[in-house]
Amino acid sequence: MKRALITGVNGQDGSYLAELLLAKGYEVHGMVRRDALEDPAHRLVNIAGARKSIQLHVGSLDNHQSIHKVVAAVRPDECYHLASSSFVSYSFEDESSIVANNFTATHALLSSFKELVPDCRVYFAGSSEMFGHAKASPQNEATPFNPRSVYGISKLAAFHLARNYREHHRMFVSAGILYNHESPRRGHQFVTRKISSTVAKIKLGRASSLSLGNIDARRDWGYAPDFVRAMHAMLQKDSPTDYVVATGVTHSVKDFLRAAFSAVDLEYERFVRLESAYFRPSETVVLCGDAALARRELGWAPSRTFEEIAREMVLADLQLLKDGG
Ligand code: GDD
Repeated sequence: MKRALITGVNGQDGSYLAELLLAKGYEVHGMVRRDALEDPAHRLVNIAGARKSIQLHVGSLDNHQSIHKVVAAVRPDECYHLASSSFVSYSFEDESSIVANNFTATHALLSSFKELVPDCRVYFAGSSEMFGHAKASPQNEATPFNPRSVYGISKLAAFHLARNYREHHRMFVSAGILYNHESPRRGHQFVTRKISSTVAKIKLGRASSLSLGNIDARRDWGYAPDFVRAMHAMLQKDSPTDYVVATGVTHSVKDFLRAAFSAVDLEYERFVRLESAYFRPSETVVLCGDAALARRELGWAPSRTFEEIAREMVLADLQLLKDGG
């Protein structure tokens, strides 16, 4: 039986990955913050269904000793490093914690593995934001990086670190360069969930409008359960490398609005207000991924269309509200 450690196990991706690995017969361990254990109803909601099968360990990205201890206690065959600051903040207020959580903590994790379990296969969660103001479209593994935010820079720095551990310390470290991926478990700060949850409230008469930023912004949006399949497949290869994971199709926020509102027979134009606070600078370049390598080497392909994802999210949020959530 293989043993896996997932950092960020209670997040969207961590929870789907834990379910996938359990279904494959893995012994699954997850790292969570102490405050999550103290408030499981809210903080562990994504793994509520699988919680009894997952062995949880207390650790946090800002406590490197705790990361070291978790690695020493679990000694996994595979580690999926998903915990990070994942909201792409363009403001200055959060920069140092973004760098600390995304770069310095990744260093703590990799160096712990190098010392304690050098044979462990490690997955690092990179991001399309590493391409930023990309020079070419669609982007693949050979496209030069040009990040446009501190978030993108922090992910890129950690990505280089992951490569360094692979090339110089001969460790099995693979990175996914993941484009946006959504699901009913998406955090509420991200635009798709903000939309799906508000559409559900509007449908039930519990909200009357939805405030957004740039609804012409475009993204390459995929389905989170598909993306965790790619993460697992990367660690099953004979040798480590990095893969772009994306659908190769972009849509606008407006397209998502149309799909989400039409799932409950409403038209978004009646409800959406634009608010300057939600606009972001530096978004002139549209990111679109070319996942040909993942298709070829991992046999990976998306299973859901954009419209199906939007519909599933709205229906799940409606159900949550009806169930009292
Ligand atoms: N969050 C948010 N809120 N975004 C809005 C809003 C709003 O009210 N209005 C418009 N948008 C636009 C943003 O400007 C952006 O162009 C797009 O919606 C998507 O924003 P997010 O859902 O916040 O995601 P993201 O693209 O910034 O980041 C996600 O994808 C990255 C690439 O895969 C995150 O998952 C990152 O962690 C990930 O690296």
